[in-house]
Amino acid sequence: MILVAGSANLDFVVRATHIPGPGETVLGREFKTYPGGKGANQAVASARAGGAPTHMLLALGSDAFAAPLEKSLADAGVVLHTVRPLDQPTGTAFICVSDDAENAITVAPGANACLEPQHLPPLTGFTHLLLQLETPLPSVTAYAQAARAQGVTVVLNAAPAQALPAELLALVDVLVVNEGELATVSGHSGSIAQCLERLQHVPTVVVTLGHHGCCTRHQGQFFLQQAFDITPVDTTGAGDTFCGSLVAALSQGADMAKALQTASAAAALACTRAGAQSSIPEATEVAKLVREQSTPNVAALAALRQFCGLA
Ligand code: RIB
Repeated sequence: MILVAGSANLDFVVRATHIPGPGETVLGREFKTYPGGKGANQAVASARAGGAPTHMLLALGSDAFAAPLEKSLADAGVVLHTVRPLDQPTGTAFICVSDDAENAITVAPGANACLEPQHLPPLTGFTHLLLQLETPLPSVTAYAQAARAQGVTVVLNAAPAQALPAELLALVDVLVVNEGELATVSGHSGSIAQCLERLQHVPTVVVTLGHHGCCTRHQGQFFLQQAFDITPVDTTGAGDTFCGSLVAALSQGADMAKALQTASAAAALACTRAGAQSSIPEATEVAKLVREQSTPNVAALAALRQFCGLA
């Protein structure tokens, strides 16, 4: 069984030709709201991947924004452990998606900032705890401590990026980061290989690299996974889809190579659709993409190896 402890946000999304720079106003186009939040997106991805049941610890306000978030999670089959702090709005995120599928996100945490150490449900029966950094760091650390004490595997997606106390990093079994997050967490701006070197004390580090693929150091071995070939529409939630799918696969006993392949395929599909939770694929769609594109691309893998600075 998987427990995701983290944020839930209602995403306010506008599409525009490009993401505005400082002081710039851009005239956008269509506007929509979508269920989002890194924690909730990862819980939905884990549940849609099938296999082990997924639970989520989250905090919501007592306002109209909470209902679509609860519905999206419940529809995916996620079992909710909901905290409702008084006088706090549900978390919101303001997102601009550009025509080249990139995004810029500002989060107003609201109720997410009220998740506290004592809110963690009993961990009996859980095998994996999946955490992110959109909820307070002391709570994230306390949850990781409780999980470690009970033999639950701790997976941390260090997003949004922030420098992490050594105390927290020491509790992490699997760290998932993108390139920027890797630089922040490792405190180093060199190659992927050099940054990974600085994180030797974390047993497994997975680095997602967008269209380059992903690079993982696990039990002293490197695993390179080429990116799936898709046309991106909106990359919002792709990293979350990767994390939820990865944990779901690992909890079902998949080996690291297979889990990385499945998570990469799920994340690729999430890039082909608009929104965060609305874009997360079902397991059957992921299996189909894996079947269609399972042949290793020697040139792509060589380019990935070089990109990472691996000899
Ligand atoms: O990772 C994407 C998510 O980041 C969005 O859904 C938004 O809510 C922010 O949490």
